[in-house]
Amino acid sequence: MLITFEGLDYSGKSTQIKLLADRLRRERHEVLVLREPGGTPVGESIRAILLDTKSSGMTPVGEFLLFSASRAQLVEQVIKPELAAGKVVICDRFYDSSTAYQGFGRGIPLDAIRTVNALATDRLTPDLTFFIDIPLDEVERRIRERKEGKDRIESSGRAFYERVRAGYLHLASEEKRFRVLEGMKSIEEIQADVWKTVEALLKEHVRT
Ligand code: ADP
Ligand code: TYD
Repeated sequence: MLITFEGLDYSGKSTQIKLLADRLRRERHEVLVLREPGGTPVGESIRAILLDTKSSGMTPVGEFLLFSASRAQLVEQVIKPELAAGKVVICDRFYDSSTAYQGFGRGIPLDAIRTVNALATDRLTPDLTFFIDIPLDEVERRIRERKEGKDRIESSGRAFYERVRAGYLHLASEEKRFRVLEGMKSIEEIQADVWKTVEALLKEHVRT
């Protein structure tokens, strides 16, 4: 089973993924947690390039194709074999991030995004995708709270992140596999929402 988490930076994805993975392991499921970009030797090299050139001269299309190249490696070398071995694979971001950030955010035509996403993933679709939704003011509050030097919101602009958020909400309204989580709730409340959905899906899998 493939479960993905999506959302703006600092929306709480890694917090919820850790809690879900712990819970699944307590219930004796084999779990693998992955993070995009990365997860394979080639993917890690690509991650280094993307982080390195973040503010210097990378075009949106160049960026999109690098994310996609990392994704293609991850799908073939890790995700497919692990799913075949019966594991629950949890991904911190997957191709919906490209649709939201490079498509809705940077303006790359959505049909091109869809075509490359399908190619990079060999049409592998998550069984379940959580979108943790928080307003931009909350992202900024969390950045200030953590006193982090680099402020992604400031460097890309609020309008960019508003488009990304709206893009995610659009995807969520179109695709059945999406669940929108109210990211302003407490960590425990969100965890309970996540678990309710995952537990129901696991039961369905056992029946079929
Ligand atoms: P992401 O993986 O999406 O970047 P994190 O899980 O690292 O997000 O969370 C970003 C920050 O927000 C962390 O400091 C975390 O403790 C905090 N945080 C996560 N979930 C919540 C929540 N529901 N309410 C308040 N703060 C949260
Ligand atoms: P990272 O630090 O891994 O993410 P997070 O803040 O969620 O912990 O950085 C990933 C960044 O790359 C994040 O800003 C989203 C962006 N991204 C894209 O623009 N497109 C993609 O396809 C992916 C996977 C990520």
